[in-house]
Amino acid sequence: TLIDRREAIGLVAAGTALASSGIARAAPRTPFLWGAATAGHQIEGNNVNADIWLLEQVRPSVFAEPSGDACDSLHRWREDVAIVRALGLNCYRFSVEWARIEPAKGQFSQAYLDHYARIVDHCREQGLAPVVTFNHFTCPRWFAAEGGWENRQAPDLFARYCDRVARRMAAGISHALTFNEPNLALGGSWSATPPPAAFMERMAASVAAAAKASGSDRFSVLNAGDPRPMIPGIIAAHGKGRDAIRAACGDLPVGMSLAIPDNVPVGLDSGIERKRREIYAPFFAVTDKDDFIGVQTYGRAWVGRDRDVEPPADAIRGADGKPWYPDAIGQVLRYVHEATGKPVLVTENGIDAADDALRQRFIPSAIASVEAAKADGVPVLGYIHWSLLDNFEWLSGYGPKFGLVAVDRTTFKRTPKPSSKLFGAIARAGGTKR
Ligand code: NOJ
Repeated sequence: TLIDRREAIGLVAAGTALASSGIARAAPRTPFLWGAATAGHQIEGNNVNADIWLLEQVRPSVFAEPSGDACDSLHRWREDVAIVRALGLNCYRFSVEWARIEPAKGQFSQAYLDHYARIVDHCREQGLAPVVTFNHFTCPRWFAAEGGWENRQAPDLFARYCDRVARRMAAGISHALTFNEPNLALGGSWSATPPPAAFMERMAASVAAAAKASGSDRFSVLNAGDPRPMIPGIIAAHGKGRDAIRAACGDLPVGMSLAIPDNVPVGLDSGIERKRREIYAPFFAVTDKDDFIGVQTYGRAWVGRDRDVEPPADAIRGADGKPWYPDAIGQVLRYVHEATGKPVLVTENGIDAADDALRQRFIPSAIASVEAAKADGVPVLGYIHWSLLDNFEWLSGYGPKFGLVAVDRTTFKRTPKPSSKLFGAIARAGGTKR
């Protein structure tokens, strides 16, 4: 039954969602998810029907280089899955590309539906739980050209796509995410260090040039303009998408992932409550009917009255001089569970570090903070690290190194870094303390 499967997969943590029913709930029977994450556009290569692709082709552009072949995972996905398995993890998070599945409005590609279904099936054969994101920032060009998330039809168009994907592969999926970090659009305006004006000018020029070429003025959430008008459409699309996925597979747990730093109030009149109300509450409200919340945390933000402020001078920094917050994730899990009452799944956490020694220090420390939250009763379903591979980091191109595995930019050869072995050893041991 529906309840049984949700309970079996660890969705219904003891004493949470069904506490009021009076039914005694056994502890979740499925293992904690230990995974690595990727996203379609960042690793597949040549995603030519996506809005972002068009933006990348504008020269000069803010992108350090076009994604081109990215990590060529469109062809090398079996190798990627094999690495996840060889590390000893039990979960792989990836995303399906709407622009491939529906390259023209209403025309669904059976070949690409089959392609992604094969990845899901292959993960299962390899003993990996597939966590699948339906929208990871990118949209088809035709969708952008029709006004993107501001088009009144957007929620229904997204739901139709979700329905097609879910009917083809939902039975094999472990956890589904409709959207990846849709709140980033709002959160961006709170950034402590706004991008330099020259960067924003070039970004705006790229958007304008790409918009002219496509007849659109919206490019998903990586937008140089004011993203706020997109939010109602995204929120409605989440609800309809979730319902479509559930209609196809009633017991598949569905949620969305949110970008949430560990927000630290600065000063007595800090704006932290305002920030929480404006940036998270609209999404928390719509996650009311979700089965879990995907949590993505990369650091800490110091929240002043009107906006985020610079970290204090004595903030801890890693060996590379960048702020260092491996324990932020545990704090955020507590906050999100408290605010929503839902089970939480770490769908991303990681560090941009050219020096892998930093990642090796980061991972056990971050996981220990997750374990501490769990020990305090926060129902945590798993820890999925960003990222499996060094990949295309959006506006920063291939510069940042978030990967557990290095990828040669010419040969695409994958080379696991020592941190990947360390993470795998922790996963196989079931945590840092065993
Ligand atoms: C969040 C996004 O989901 C992902 O696409 C990005 O690469 C990482 N964080 C790192 O910035």
